[in-house]
Amino acid sequence: MNHELKSAFFSFLAAMSLTAAAEKVEIHTPANSLVVDLWKDGEPKFVYYGSRLSAQDLKSLPDPTRENWSHLDLYPAYGANHTQSEVALAMTHADGNMSTSLLVQDFDIKEVSDKAPNGNDRKGTLLTITLKDPVYPTTVHLYYLAYKDVDMIECWSDINNAEKKDVLLTQFYSTCMPIRRGNVWASHFHGSWAAEGQLTEEKLNNGMLVVKNKDGVRNATSDRSEVMFSLDGKGQQNCGDVIGTAVLYSGNYRVAIDTDDSEYHYYFAGINPDNSSYRLRKGETFTTPHVAYTFSREGLSGASRNFHRWGRNYQLRHGDKPRDILLNSWEGVYFDINQKGMDQMMADIASMGGELFVMDDGWFGDKYPRKNDTSSLGDWTVDRTKLPDGIEGLLRDAKKNKVKFGIWIEPEMANTKSELYEKHPDWIIKAPQREPILGRGGSQVVLDLSNPKVQDFVFSIVDDLLTKYPDIAYLKWDANAPVMNHGSQYLTMANQSHLYIEYHRGLQKVCERIRAKYADVVIQACASGGGRATYGLLPYFDEFWVSDDTDALQRIYMQWGTSYFFPAIAMASHISATPNHQTFRTIPLKFRCDVAMSGRLGMEIQPKNMTNEEKALCRKAIADYKSVRHIVQFGDIYRLHSPYEGDNLASLMYVTENKQEAVFYWYKLETFCNQHLPRIKMAGLDPDRLYTVHELNRIDNRPLDCEGKTFTGAYLMQNGIDLPFKHNVDYHKQNDWASRVIWLKAVD
Ligand code: DGJ
Repeated sequence: MNHELKSAFFSFLAAMSLTAAAEKVEIHTPANSLVVDLWKDGEPKFVYYGSRLSAQDLKSLPDPTRENWSHLDLYPAYGANHTQSEVALAMTHADGNMSTSLLVQDFDIKEVSDKAPNGNDRKGTLLTITLKDPVYPTTVHLYYLAYKDVDMIECWSDINNAEKKDVLLTQFYSTCMPIRRGNVWASHFHGSWAAEGQLTEEKLNNGMLVVKNKDGVRNATSDRSEVMFSLDGKGQQNCGDVIGTAVLYSGNYRVAIDTDDSEYHYYFAGINPDNSSYRLRKGETFTTPHVAYTFSREGLSGASRNFHRWGRNYQLRHGDKPRDILLNSWEGVYFDINQKGMDQMMADIASMGGELFVMDDGWFGDKYPRKNDTSSLGDWTVDRTKLPDGIEGLLRDAKKNKVKFGIWIEPEMANTKSELYEKHPDWIIKAPQREPILGRGGSQVVLDLSNPKVQDFVFSIVDDLLTKYPDIAYLKWDANAPVMNHGSQYLTMANQSHLYIEYHRGLQKVCERIRAKYADVVIQACASGGGRATYGLLPYFDEFWVSDDTDALQRIYMQWGTSYFFPAIAMASHISATPNHQTFRTIPLKFRCDVAMSGRLGMEIQPKNMTNEEKALCRKAIADYKSVRHIVQFGDIYRLHSPYEGDNLASLMYVTENKQEAVFYWYKLETFCNQHLPRIKMAGLDPDRLYTVHELNRIDNRPLDCEGKTFTGAYLMQNGIDLPFKHNVDYHKQNDWASRVIWLKAVD
């Protein structure tokens, strides 16, 4: 068989006309290659995804057509060949035929230079494969975008209906990727309110592993769409081959890993089709969300570093700008907002070195003032009883206290007790003919973002605030309800199943309008905590609230899991009060500071209730964080020792790209007498350079033995440093907690 080779490297050959002979087509990132096999009127085949291939190996790759690898289809469609296994696409044609066949017509490779979702310039190689049904006028374009400077390939598809009438899409994944069997393990994340991002690791076996979320609004609260596959046995942090995958979508998603009797596991990912079958109008094109893939030979942390680098550069808003240290008012005062209290909190955070104050829930409502969670969502006017000088007064106080000012909103929601609902009961999500099902506070409902009027309203909430008060520097955008009662009062009865998809299209449109007009404002995505930790929304948001659970111990587990895909700069992590408001655990302030300092540091506490000693400790932690902020927020992560190991220790570190500096975190999770904890070997340093050790947030009466000493990177990575399991403090200050934060600086 005439086996011609086409690589992105030879992309000037881009205009390809296919023949019946198979062509291997390769695209690559700096360190990864993806190879597919295409021939005219054949099904597109997967050949290879992994380390970047040499020209020789590329040439010698197996020929799937000769081996008749019918199971390696790149985008299997239901019918013809594929009826018994999972498929990427299933549709009912206008005449009722449920079978589809997708055969390659053409492909194209070109260099692209465009704007990434977060507005940054990006460069990549785009492979487009055109597939057509030989009988019906159905066309699918399959896209693979390989980034030039980061190891990430995004894949998505366009489905076009050129039939005379509507067709019905019943399954429409973005992508399918075969993963060679072996001892393959999946790392994925599940959770619930106050326990998000919990890591699960399991060996892939026969059958189907499904990870999905159908919340409708807060699609990262429970199961998350991001999955890592460790290809050589149970995943290790800093060695082994790993494929990392994420669905870049804010709505209902579904990831299915189907394992049949072949040599492969099949990864499918995209929109969750449950109750979302899509009527594709004549002439309409349906574009699926992007799915991102990376491959790393440096273990789970290596795949994380690839995701973080790509995330900061191309997916997260303002991924290159350091984040402010803030105080959020929620756990400090809850709904008890008033002008004097806000002024006091601003003065307090300023005195501890903080840079931003955020007023949370409870500031709005005129006819129905927001005293608790039973009313007022939708009525975004200042409650003048609580805040007689309005937002002007708060901005004035912020200026006086020399901090920036931010404000909380929950724009996608209403309460049935609100002026908005009285005026527009038809704007909420609810099934036709039925009473609405009410959420938080017994009265919360979700606005129907499929309705363009609702989109305008949601946009106007942000627009009004930022136009009237351009000094607002930060918005906390919350969303505290799922879709509980499926149905739209706006969509036609025939299109009720479009609700979940149209909701997120509407949300995206609103976000795009906001970013087009307000490029600079910092926006946090919050959804009952970490319900919006998703790359589907981060192009519009600067960060997300990891969880409403601010307990430092549980945060170690949640932040560990969340860090698999999301960089520290995006992970809002706050020092809160004791006993903790969610777990009622009492953890010393030093430990709480050390945990919060491994993410985007902030505070969630009433400073008025803190002692001077506690304030001094926080002042020191904030000052110390400022000296390592660039390492935490822009550095490379190396997870060292997992809290999930169950041996009472967790440790991780961040290293700058030039390996000049690093911050090392060490947390003891439980205390026993005669306890034996392993010494942690560091990672990511330059073995040949010398690093000086300096402990941050020190509370001990005497410095660590290693304080101020200099070690080679090789020693630190082969041995690590011995750390005492207890703090050396006066007897009455002793407790069962211990943690360390260590700053390493290369001496050149
Ligand atoms: C849920 C959020 O996760 C909290 O941080 C807080 O903003 C409350 N909503 C306010 O109602």
